[in-house]
Amino acid sequence: MLDGADPLLEARPLAPDSRAEFLADVLTGLARPQKEISCKWLYDARGSHLFERICELDEYYPTRTELGIMEAHARAMAALLGPGCALVEYGSGSSIKTRLLLDHLARPAAYVPVDISAPALAAASTRLARVFPTLRVLPVCADFTARLELPLAGIAALRRAVYFPGSTIGNFHKPEVVTFLRGVARQCGPGGGLLIGVDLRKERAVLERAYDDALGVTASFDLNVLVRANRELDANFLCDRFRHEARFDERHGRVEMHLVSTVSQRVVVGGETFRFSEGESIWTESSYKYGMREFATLAALAGWRCEATWTDERAWFSVQYFTSG
Ligand code: AVJ
Repeated sequence: MLDGADPLLEARPLAPDSRAEFLADVLTGLARPQKEISCKWLYDARGSHLFERICELDEYYPTRTELGIMEAHARAMAALLGPGCALVEYGSGSSIKTRLLLDHLARPAAYVPVDISAPALAAASTRLARVFPTLRVLPVCADFTARLELPLAGIAALRRAVYFPGSTIGNFHKPEVVTFLRGVARQCGPGGGLLIGVDLRKERAVLERAYDDALGVTASFDLNVLVRANRELDANFLCDRFRHEARFDERHGRVEMHLVSTVSQRVVVGGETFRFSEGESIWTESSYKYGMREFATLAALAGWRCEATWTDERAWFSVQYFTSG
């Protein structure tokens, strides 16, 4: 098959104009008392690749655990989604778990992978279109946290459903979860479905190791946002003057990633100077961990009714299925 000549790969991945937005975000974030950079900027081509390596680490249990749940229950999940379903996936990355679902879905109307990384999206879409030659694959390169138009206008589907695996929802603060899930319900319309991976609360040591592995892959992933800022925003971060740290904040139920300045220093970004004292950090990610019921309660505030939940034998991770009115 010729690359780019596949009629079922209709919407061409398009890179959003993200540089201006990245700059604005970094300038605002670094001006805050607790400096921060949104975790979505972690995922350039190198960042997406490093994240794929994280998923294979012994310490990083979510991917393996969720895959196990999908392997055991994909058939049941596909049955609940039903035939003729248009499946939208947010943060599709390499779309590996999606295959398990697509293997069992009856006559899916379309698959719409949405990802912020154009190279990751293009590679995964092409691969999936090969594995499922009759499936309409309509990739959208976009920031799914912003308003986005789905290419589903001309698609006759019996149901629209969003697949949101990986516990990416964990990156949202709780009020944002509700707003976001309301938007998803609106996008799906009446009878919509939501199949979502939700990481669960567990022992601190397990959590902190998962976000600070022995090989330092997560540290490189985190520090990569500074490398990216240097390249794209004319910044002059010295990466060896920052170290990666993962802390579980029990009260908020979240693992936080921080880049901690090891010295007192100044950094210039897009012509503006920012001071760091020794030990001061840039907060780069939150990864919320939920109680099994806790998440369903939050989703209910956005109009989603929990129909089924699946978990592993240690109850470390869950996949939950919701429908909206
Ligand atoms: C892709 C957002 C689910 O929070 O566990 C992995 C990202 N950060 N290691 C997560 C991540 C550090 C990951 N998510």
